[in-house]
Amino acid sequence: MMRKKIVAANWKMNKTFDEVRDFIEQFPVDDVSRFSHTQVIICPPYVYLQWLVEKLASTPICIGAQNVAEFEKGAYTGEIAALMLRSIGVTHCIVGHSERRQYFAESDQKITTKVQILHQHSIIPIFCCGETLQQRDKNEHFQTVERQVNEVISQLDTHQMLRTIIAYEPVWAIGTGVHATAEQAQEMHSFIRQIIQQHFGTNVAQSTIILYGGSCNQNNAHELFSCPDVDGGLIGGASLSASEFANIIFIAQSIQQQNFAQ
Ligand code: PGA
Repeated sequence: MMRKKIVAANWKMNKTFDEVRDFIEQFPVDDVSRFSHTQVIICPPYVYLQWLVEKLASTPICIGAQNVAEFEKGAYTGEIAALMLRSIGVTHCIVGHSERRQYFAESDQKITTKVQILHQHSIIPIFCCGETLQQRDKNEHFQTVERQVNEVISQLDTHQMLRTIIAYEPVWAIGTGVHATAEQAQEMHSFIRQIIQQHFGTNVAQSTIILYGGSCNQNNAHELFSCPDVDGGLIGGASLSASEFANIIFIAQSIQQQNFAQ
């Protein structure tokens, strides 16, 4: 089973509108659009979603949100509903990011609800999981990730599982400049795939995209993306630069070209 690679940008709360325009001018849209084995997703702050969807409408580049409300619609001042995202052409949405778990007190329960709502509106969740440094130091990283993953995927049917992207993002690696080693990433990705296999069987597990996130950049992407169970990356800091983000996509594509040629 050959999975495609996905490289997704998580811009977090960065960039003015002028900076978004500069990024798109500098980003090699035509080059990355030709890559048949590598999917590109850009997740900007909410306010730039519609502009980017329209700007990139004629390309295979997908636009994702970084968050979604856990409610359908109504009196929830300041919130954005999945239905709204869908109505402007957003195709993906990050859920369960450690920054939202930490700074916005998002529980596994709330994250599960958000994943459900996204599926109801045919938006693909990019579901993040990952342990803290203390959990890894106490050798609790596998059980932490297992709990986070089980909580969400036990509520999915097979079709929904196949339309869910998982991102393993060790909290100690996010924005720190310290990335997981290829060995650490591979063993956790393979572990996550086994959890999916227990619920949905081998075919679904082998089809599920599992991204790595946490200080992934143009210098370490090759090592990480070459791991058999690492299907690409969710890129924060390094995705803010058009040229570096493009380089990471080129790396993913070159690995896939070799894989498919074999
Ligand atoms: P980083 O962030 O690449 O800046 O470490 C990744 C993420 O949080 O998605």
